[in-house]
Amino acid sequence: MRLNKFLSASGVCSRRKADELIENGEIIVNGKVETQLGTNIDEKKDKVIYNGKVISLTSDFVYYKLNKPKGYICSNNDDKGRKTIFELLPKDKRLFSIGRLDYNTEGLILITNDGELSEAISHPRYEVNKEYIVTIEGKILESELAVLRAGVVEKGIRMPKARVQRLETDGKITKISVIINEGQNRQVRRMFEAIGKTIILLKRVRIGEITLGGLQRGTYKELNRVEMEYINMLKN
Ligand code: URA
Repeated sequence: MRLNKFLSASGVCSRRKADELIENGEIIVNGKVETQLGTNIDEKKDKVIYNGKVISLTSDFVYYKLNKPKGYICSNNDDKGRKTIFELLPKDKRLFSIGRLDYNTEGLILITNDGELSEAISHPRYEVNKEYIVTIEGKILESELAVLRAGVVEKGIRMPKARVQRLETDGKITKISVIINEGQNRQVRRMFEAIGKTIILLKRVRIGEITLGGLQRGTYKELNRVEMEYINMLKN
């Protein structure tokens, strides 16, 4: 088995990230640092060490959905000492999030120890669309919605198109549904900055066919059978 596949199948990280670890000399195979991409190992015999721990294939993958609150980051540790989503999750497995939400964004995020899945959902090729509910100050004009739909132009570069729909407004605040395929850094926030709108709350409510549902803020639960069928479809 390829070393990068072994690392992702063992729940260490995604395959792409595994290549980085290998190139950076962070993976030891049978006592020697292995930096060659494309190396094959015998997963039954070879001893692979990362971060001082022997890595083994795990079949007990877990898949959770978490309702991330505002004020949490999506990485394992933070040099600014901010809270991380992993404080809200079980500690007995090496979990990671599939993609990220900004510190001040809340809502649905998928958590797993299955590196292959991370690759499948994050890659634009699979076109897993994501839906956000954006709450802004004031109103939004039809012409502004049209700009968002066509893809806002930022420093001369057009951002991807989005499916955008006004949901409700009371004149003081407006809620808008935004559906995007790609996950460029701060994509939704940048779209609204480009049309001069102030976001009060950004919340992700759906990833592909998996919805946030009634999950309480700050809590997680395992994906159900139907959600797992969708996940397995993406992986195949
Ligand atoms: N777009 C953003 O701007 N922020 C997020 O957290 C997710 C999508």
